[in-house]
Amino acid sequence: MGRSPRGGSAATWSGLALCALAMTGLVASSLPEPDQPEPQRSGVTSSAADPYCPPGWDPGVDSAARAAGTRVSDPGAQADAGVEITPEQAAEYEERLRDALVSQRGRELAPPYTVPVAVHVISATDGRGAVSDQQIRDQVDVLNRAYQGDYALGSEGTDTGFRFELSDVTRSADDAWFDDFNRHGDAIRSQLRQGGPETLNVYTTELDSGLLGYSTFPQDYQDDPDRDGVVIAYDALPGGGRERFNEGHTGTHEVGHWLGLFHTFQNGCQPPGDYVDDTPYEREAAAGCPKGRDTCPERPGRDPVTNFMNYSDDACMTHFTQGQARRMVEHWNAFRGGSARV
Ligand code: ARG
Ligand code: ZN
Ligand code: CA
Repeated sequence: MGRSPRGGSAATWSGLALCALAMTGLVASSLPEPDQPEPQRSGVTSSAADPYCPPGWDPGVDSAARAAGTRVSDPGAQADAGVEITPEQAAEYEERLRDALVSQRGRELAPPYTVPVAVHVISATDGRGAVSDQQIRDQVDVLNRAYQGDYALGSEGTDTGFRFELSDVTRSADDAWFDDFNRHGDAIRSQLRQGGPETLNVYTTELDSGLLGYSTFPQDYQDDPDRDGVVIAYDALPGGGRERFNEGHTGTHEVGHWLGLFHTFQNGCQPPGDYVDDTPYEREAAAGCPKGRDTCPERPGRDPVTNFMNYSDDACMTHFTQGQARRMVEHWNAFRGGSARV
């Protein structure tokens, strides 16, 4: 990814920072031996190796990190530079959420919320990345099914109350944009982005091998509205070429960040974890689909391997929890659909 966009208006790209954590090798190397893979619904094989982040990839320094006085990574930093949403950054996001919710008090806002979705397809002039309209519709369908609880097995399903409606598709064939979205991302987004804080802008493009996607957080909107949105590797759309990650749950996961969720392994085994009560603690990201994994044995519950906010294979991911649903609604009310609505 090279130099990441930043400067005065840099927002946090959660996937970027978190991807870089996986890249450190801490994730893969300190994982316990994977247990037997669960039987998977679509016959993909599981692996404990982290498939997301290419070596040498630089997540840059985000605004929250600067505010917290935390060094996230230097340009060109080695793969072992400590990078994640730090506990301090997470706490700061939480504080901004709590502050914003104070001014929402008394406001009756209840789901369902229908989120307009503008998809911006960045492709190469030779046609690479030119995902079809059908794939885009399929991605929106996956979002609707996931946020409605349709992938759940048994009773774990939660209808989060969020619904998604495709509002526009733009197509840009530009080799420079496609080859280096990171470099041109600010220009691309300020040129293409539509709507206010309530509109989900999705950019599909080529991302460095291994990187599936990234997102801004709702708290970032006010400081940098142009950058708000989600970036997804074009081959991670439903039916794309990204093995194990072509069922559309990169979209599900990134939109979770866009609606304010942290990874289930945020803060590892330490309170407050991911700031969600009904997701068990988890020391590090899961990969593949490990069964019975329990990386915080001193804490109740096994790892939330099948949660959409983990790093498991698409076929392994089945649900959000009630607590996550509530947290997304809180963020929506505080930053996107409440007084923030344009
Ligand atoms: N690593 C990326 C992130 O942190 C995306 C992970 C998506 N996982 C998946 N199974 N599609 O945002
Ligand atoms: Zn993520
Ligand atoms: Ca939790």
